[in-house]
Amino acid sequence: MQSLIIDGGNRLTGEIEVCGAKNSALPILAATALTDGETVLHNCPVITDVYSAERILTHLGCSSVLNGNTAVIKSSVQRSDIPEKLMSEMRSSIIFLGALLGKTGKCALSFPGGCELGARPIDIHINSLKKMGASVKEEFGTLVFTAPKGLNGAKLLLPFPSVGATENIMLAACLAKGETQIKNAAREPEIADLADYLNKCGANIKGAGEGTITISGVSSLKGCEHTIMPDRIVAATYMSAAASTGGELRITKLCRNDLDSVIPIFEEMGCYIYSYGDSVFIKANKLKAVKKILTMPYPAFPTDAQAVVMASLAKAEGTSVFVENIFENRYQHVPALTKMGADIKVEGKVAIVEGVKNLFGANILATDLRGGAALVVAALGAEGRTVIGNIHHIDRGYENIEKTFSLVGGKIIRK
Ligand code: UD1
Repeated sequence: MQSLIIDGGNRLTGEIEVCGAKNSALPILAATALTDGETVLHNCPVITDVYSAERILTHLGCSSVLNGNTAVIKSSVQRSDIPEKLMSEMRSSIIFLGALLGKTGKCALSFPGGCELGARPIDIHINSLKKMGASVKEEFGTLVFTAPKGLNGAKLLLPFPSVGATENIMLAACLAKGETQIKNAAREPEIADLADYLNKCGANIKGAGEGTITISGVSSLKGCEHTIMPDRIVAATYMSAAASTGGELRITKLCRNDLDSVIPIFEEMGCYIYSYGDSVFIKANKLKAVKKILTMPYPAFPTDAQAVVMASLAKAEGTSVFVENIFENRYQHVPALTKMGADIKVEGKVAIVEGVKNLFGANILATDLRGGAALVVAALGAEGRTVIGNIHHIDRGYENIEKTFSLVGGKIIRK
């Protein structure tokens, strides 16, 4: 088991590049199962969740080779089951359901794994696919979906704009007969990136990134070349690290518009922000508390950025309040921050952060992906040495995090 060892208190300065978005790469890798021929994906993040998706593709009979940040996938799906071991590696393995059902008319898989953020049901996925003509039964813990005559388009109104369900329906609808309409669809930019990829492959998807998405079924899809969008949560993590260390960073290769709900929070904290083209420059001053941060579906403040922003606000003057509206158990990083000297009280969905003067190094464990990144952010700005264990959670979504921060002055090694 590896750890990250961080000697805190060094200002981060310099330039740092954002990698491709995990939450875009994973559904696009699943989408390749719907296509015939070759897909070339540029800007693919080198993270363990991508390896997990590649293992599923290989199991299905496809080949996937990652060379630097370019993934080449040759799609030729031979089977439609995903073993429990592969499903348990990450939550987004569930997105293969829509692709396999659309392509082969069947799919057998177990409930997905991933970060333990409280109950993460898949009822919206299942009910939507049923409305499109799929039947489902549970056999010894495996969900078996069938649509022997193929799927049909349907008019769907989602009870909540679930990201994963929107993606699954989009994938299932591409090769379905007729038109599918998704109302109250998730509007995250990663949904638009997935639609972009699918449309390049020959799909007919309109409205992705908006509340209503319309998909007209086509007879086949052919692989294409696509560049994965920048990771807005990684960008928010770097901004938090600049704030936490009192540093100044030029963060490049990002999409400024995707950070519309995040940048004002750093401005309220007292950071100076200047954005131009695909870069954001952030210079941290003395940090001030932020009155209220509510996590909500896009375009509001993202739940995935809650933990990293909290890590920097732990040292801001005054009281900051978080309300987590997406997941029921997304404050698992709080005990480790408290061990480092933070003053944070959690009551249900609310976390109240009383800023302290300093955080101090401690031996702590990452409990989930973004919570783990928050501990790195806190440790970079803390006094003394922090040792973070269970870093496999962090590697699921960050490319070589120790190298990234070392290059801008962080003292961080993996051992
Ligand atoms: C995706 C992102 C994740 C992000 C989340 C919310 C990927 C790979 N992961 O996860 O990083 O934190 O969006 O922005 O893109 N829900 C149901 N029933 C369902 C589906 C979801 O009740 O059928 C609930 C979930 O329990 C959760 C909420 O809806 O409380 C949000 O889930 P969803 O939007 O589906 O998130 P994911 O796709 O799992």
